[in-house]
Formats: sequence, structure tokens, C-alpha cells
Amino acid sequence: MGGSARARWVAVGLGIVGLLCAVLGVVMILVMPSLIKQQVLKNVRIDPSSLSFGMWKEIPVPFYLSVYFFEVVNPNEVLKGEKPIVRERGPYVYREFRHKANITFNDNDTVSFVEHRSLHFQPDRSHGSESDYIVLPNILVLGGAVMMEDKSAGLKLMMTLGLATMGQRAFMNRTVGEILWGYEDPFVNFINKYFPDMFPIKGKFGLFVEMNNSDSGLFTVFTGVQNFSKIHLVDRWNGLSKINYWHSEQCNMINGTSGQMWAPFMTPQYSLEFFSPEACRSMKLTYHDSGVFEGIPIYRFTAPKTLFANGSVYPPNEGFCPCLESGIQNVSTCRFGAPLFLSHPHFYNADPVLSEAVLGLNPDPKEHSLFLDIHPVTGIPMNCSVKLQLSLYIKSVKGIGQTGKIEPVVLPLLWFEQGPKDTMSPPNLIAWSDQPSSPYTPLLEDSLSGQSASAIA
Ligand SMILES: *[C@@H]1O[C@H](CO)[C@@H](O)[C@H](O)[C@H]1NC(C)=O
Ligand SMILES: *[C@@H]1O[C@H](CO)[C@@H](O)[C@H](O)[C@H]1NC(C)=O
Ligand SMILES: *[C@@H]1O[C@H](CO)[C@@H](O)[C@H](O)[C@H]1NC(C)=O
Ligand SMILES: *[C@@H]1O[C@H](CO)[C@@H](O)[C@H](O)[C@H]1NC(C)=O
Ligand SMILES: *[C@@H]1O[C@H](CO)[C@@H](O)[C@H](O)[C@H]1NC(C)=O
Ligand SMILES: *[C@@H]1O[C@H](CO)[C@@H](O)[C@H](O)[C@H]1NC(C)=O
Ligand SMILES: *[C@@H]1O[C@H](CO)[C@@H](O)[C@H](O)[C@H]1NC(C)=O
Ligand SMILES: *[C@@H]1O[C@H](CO)[C@@H](O)[C@H](O)[C@H]1NC(C)=O
Ligand SMILES: *[C@@H]1O[C@H](CO)[C@@H](O)[C@H](O)[C@H]1NC(C)=O
Repeated sequence: MGGSARARWVAVGLGIVGLLCAVLGVVMILVMPSLIKQQVLKNVRIDPSSLSFGMWKEIPVPFYLSVYFFEVVNPNEVLKGEKPIVRERGPYVYREFRHKANITFNDNDTVSFVEHRSLHFQPDRSHGSESDYIVLPNILVLGGAVMMEDKSAGLKLMMTLGLATMGQRAFMNRTVGEILWGYEDPFVNFINKYFPDMFPIKGKFGLFVEMNNSDSGLFTVFTGVQNFSKIHLVDRWNGLSKINYWHSEQCNMINGTSGQMWAPFMTPQYSLEFFSPEACRSMKLTYHDSGVFEGIPIYRFTAPKTLFANGSVYPPNEGFCPCLESGIQNVSTCRFGAPLFLSHPHFYNADPVLSEAVLGLNPDPKEHSLFLDIHPVTGIPMNCSVKLQLSLYIKSVKGIGQTGKIEPVVLPLLWFEQGPKDTMSPPNLIAWSDQPSSPYTPLLEDSLSGQSASAIA
């Protein structure tokens, strides 16, 4: 198995986070000398002389990851076949730092880079501490059981006995820090001792364990310097021009940008496509409406209902199946076979059967939908809030005693939100307008004219 398998499972490290909402921000727009087409083109390309380059390299706006857990209130009853009841805990908030490194300009109009990130807990913004205890499904036991379903009775018996010996049960009571950043799992140690090649995890197991001080792979994207037509589009990721997690050509395509910037001069017909290594797929957001952010006109893009639809509801998604109800995506092939599902929080925009199967869920567009606000003239993100949920498919597996009489259910584990907070801190504004030669005022008026996007395009 070795390296690649480990990397994939560890990606259960739910690297899902990082769904690319970067905000380059208002400051960028304000320093643009003028919003005439040539100037915009010159300054949104990926080029060290471009005004956007510094902000492309390092996201200039404070950025946060907020995590909410679904604590299981009635674990013993769930084991007896009753409906799970969950209670939302959190948020546990982390400041996220990201910067691009190993930036290499290739001679074919592309640039290669990795994006590094690190996370730092913010007690003041959190509701609770990293030492809070939370009762969650024991992912290794319940996920492992579903993965073992088709194995021989002997192997399952061994698993049952092994788990029993180590006091491992269907639900676990662990701290936020352990769940996210890892704990020593006796079961993992046991497997690794007796079946050294069977399991991809060595050492600690945690949902976000390899997300801190990591990167999201080697991107090669078009700079738009020589030929503008492919600006920001991803050429390759980790050297691949398509991925192979899914069953159809269409689903394996790497579409769109790396998620930080898009081609300028957008119209409402434009859709926002990007490739997310964490979700192992390309995604597409669609125009919702237009508005104003800090005095700057923006287009708001949101997730279409088809984003996580199943293959029978939306045939182009067939390649992501086998599916269950519509509105959740089976990400098992890119999480080392673990029965994990990606969706909107609380199964928002999914088949209501899903949220009705668990007590305590309350899908609500205000709380649980995601958006990206883009300045249409430049294609630069101004504000965003990306919200996603991770769930575990659990059920009773014959031959594995620990799974009791659990009824099959897609049980939410956690959801998270990524986005800036205090986006436009006053010091930014003052810094720019303080400069005597700042083009700040005329520029703002320019972009305020709201017409600018369509006028220029
Ligand atoms: C980035 O550069 C460093 C130092 O040159 C190197 O060790 C590392 O492997 C590079 N990372 C990637 C992903 O290319
Ligand atoms: C451009 O060059 C890079 C580095 O040599 C290579 O990985 C990439 O495939 C090339 N892309 C195109 C479109 O030629
Ligand atoms: C992430 O790594 C940094 C640097 O090693 C460390 O200071 C920080 O506490 C880590 N964050 C978490 C959440 O463990
Ligand atoms: C979880 O463990 C902590 C510490 O041992 C304990 O205080 C708490 O009551 C436990 N929670 C539940 C629901 O058992
Ligand atoms: C730019 O690229 C597009 C598509 O790849 C191509 O059709 C067009 O001819 C190119 N333009 C120039 C000036 O090379
Ligand atoms: C990628 O783009 C192609 C063509 O526009 C489309 O058919 C396909 O469904 C897209 N794939 C994904 C995963 O978005
Ligand atoms: C797809 O979703 C619909 C609506 O939730 C559901 O009725 C159908 O059974 C699902 N298809 C599959 C293959 O599960
Ligand atoms: C999820 O997809 C995997 C791999 O394609 C498949 O084996 C598994 O049965 C699917 N899970 C569910 C619950 O449908
Ligand atoms: C950015 O979006 C968030 C919603 O996630 C909102 O609370 C915030 O007010 C927005 N920022 C500004 C400056 O409008």
C-alpha cells in the first residue's frame, strides 16, 4: 500500500476544507489605476508586474474556518435501532493562513505552485474550547464495519474480538482537539501490529490531521500573459490533466480555475467553475443576483441544486455514483473507501428524507447555503462563505457485534464554514486613502457606476 494509499486515507483528514474561497478583496480593486479594459487585463494576469500578484500569492484578508459538530445525544438508543438525535456544538474557530509557494513560471504561458496553509485556534471567536468532549460515531469502527461488510465471517469475527479486546465501541467520547487533530487509536495500532500492510493509517487518526502545515497539491494554471483566452484555468493538478476517482469522463474532468480568481469581464451568464482537490472534483456555481460590497458592485454566485444531485435526478452526475438519495455525494473513492458523504450543512437542498432520518437537523437557506461574491469587471472575489458537511453512512453489519441493531442512516459528523470575517477592516481603507497620490476616489466612483461590468465587456 504505502505512500499513496496513506495519502488518500489521510485525506480523510477531510482535507475537504480548503474549498477555495479566497478573498483578494476590496483593497485590490482600489489600487487598480483605472478600470479600463487594457489596464484590467494587465493587472489580473498572473505576472509579477501585475497589481493582483501580491494578493494572489498571499490572501490579504483574515480568513477563518469554523467547525460545528453534530453530537449524538442518544448513542445507546441508536445502537438499539432508534433514530439518532443530534445536537449542534460549536463553532470551533480557526484562523487560516494560506500562501503560495514554489511558484515557477513555465515557458508555455502557465505557472505552477502549491498553496500552503496552517490553522490556529481562536478561543475568542469560538463557542467552547478544544478540550470540550463530544460524542460522535466512532469512525474507525462504524466506517470500518461498512467497509468489511463483504469480507469473510472469519475476518469479521476477528474484527469484533479485536475491537472488544480494546474496548472500542460504536460511539466515542473525545475532545474536539482529538477528533480534529488526531489521537492514538488502539485499534489502528493493533491492526498495524498484526497486519502491517492492511491499513493505511500509521500513528494518529484525526479528521483534519494532515491539514495543518500542508498544501493542496501542485497546480499548473494559465497566466493569461501571452494568450488571454485561458486566463486562470487549471491546466494540470499534480501533473494530471484529469482525475480518476469517478466512473465517467465527464465527472473526472478538471474544469475551471483553482478557485482564487476568474476571467474578468463577467456577465450574469457566466458560471463560476473551479477544481477542488479536497472534494476530488470540479464544481460549478451559478449566478444568483448582483449587489454591492463595500461600495463595489458584485455578482453573487451560489450552488445550483444539481451540485450534489444524484445520477437519476441529474444524469451528468451519474459518474459520481453509486448514490443514495439526491443531495449528498458519495466521496468514498477519494477517501480510501470510507463511507463518507459530502453535502450542504443539515442536508440543505437534499432530499428531505435525509434530514428527517435524524432528529435535530433543520436545513435553512439563510444558515446553510454557500456563496461567492465576485467583482465582475476583474473576476476577483470580494466575500465568500463556503459551507459543507461531512457525513458517515452507518448501519448494522452482520458479523460485527459492535454495530448492534443500527438502522442504515447517513449521519452528519460535522459541518464547517470558511470565509473572511471583518473583511474590510478600517486600517486597510485608511492606509490607501492616506497615500497622497492614491487613485482611490476616482476609482471607487468608476466601479460604483455599476454599469462598468457590462459597459466594458
Ligand atoms: C517546494 O520546494 C521545496 C524546496 O525547493 C521542495 O523541497 C518541495 O518538495 C517543493 N514542493 C513541491 C510540492 O513541489
Ligand atoms: C506547460 O509546461 C508545464 C511545465 O513544463 C507542463 O507541466 C504543462 O503540461 C505544460 N502545459 C501545456 C498546456 O503545454
Ligand atoms: C498548526 O501548526 C502550527 C505550527 O506548527 C501550530 O502552531 C498550530 O498550533 C497548529 N494548529 C493546530 C490547530 O494544531
Ligand atoms: C465524556 O468524557 C468526559 C471526560 O471523561 C466526561 O466528563 C463526560 O461526561 C463524558 N460524556 C459523556 C456523554 O459520556
Ligand atoms: C489563444 O488560445 C485560444 C484557445 O486556446 C486560441 O484559439 C487562440 O488562437 C489563441 N490566440 C493567440 C493569439 O494565440
Ligand atoms: C466539465 O466541463 C464539461 C464541459 O463543459 C462538462 O460536460 C462536465 O460535466 C464538467 N465536469 C464537471 C465535473 O463539472
Ligand atoms: C436519487 O434521488 C431521488 C430523490 O432523492 C431518489 O428518489 C432516487 O431513488 C435516487 N436514486 C438512487 C439511485 O438512489
Ligand atoms: C459509495 O461508493 C462506493 C464506491 O463507488 C461504493 O462501493 C459504495 O457502496 C457507495 N456507498 C453507498 C452507501 O452507496
Ligand atoms: C461577508 O459575508 C458574510 C456572510 O458570511 C457577512 O456576514 C459579512 O457581512 C460580509 N461582509 C461584508 C463586508 O459585507
